[in-house]
Amino acid sequence: MSSEDTATEDRIRDAIANPKNMGEMADADAVGTVGSPDCGDMLRMWLKFSEKDGRKVIDRASFQSFGCQTAIAVASVATELLAGKSIEEAMKLEANDLSSPLGALPPMKIHCGQMVEGALREALEAEERAKSGESMAPETPIQPSIPADSTLLGRISGPPTGGVSGGKLRVVKLDPAETGD
Ligand code: FES
Repeated sequence: MSSEDTATEDRIRDAIANPKNMGEMADADAVGTVGSPDCGDMLRMWLKFSEKDGRKVIDRASFQSFGCQTAIAVASVATELLAGKSIEEAMKLEANDLSSPLGALPPMKIHCGQMVEGALREALEAEERAKSGESMAPETPIQPSIPADSTLLGRISGPPTGGVSGGKLRVVKLDPAETGD
């Protein structure tokens, strides 16, 4: 293992041990939730906006990760670097930008960063929909064919609909109302 790989592992371990901005944000303006049908993990991100120098920027971001430690590390550093970014700037950030403070993720963990990107994009799109007067909820129910009494993991591992693609991973957008909190 190279010293760079070791440094990345150390940074991931530190971020997991001391995650920043973890937890639900009660006064959030937008929320995005995604799940990965491949590994069964899911992640939710909340955004709060404010006005700065006449433009709307992300005031703060928070997250919850269900099932994945690496996603916690990426989301932790991502929520820190999102502060102060406009929607347009945040939309341009890809998984490797969001995880960059940790160093290059190992190949098996790249999809963890893509899940953070997916949750961010979902929250940004929710904000854009709200701005244009639409509901924050997705236009179509997610996976309506899955029984209501199925588990959360069952819901996110069902047939994907309308997800964003990232390499081999298909990130499935979830309706926050469907996740039961
Ligand atoms: Fe699936 Fe990390 S292992 S998101």
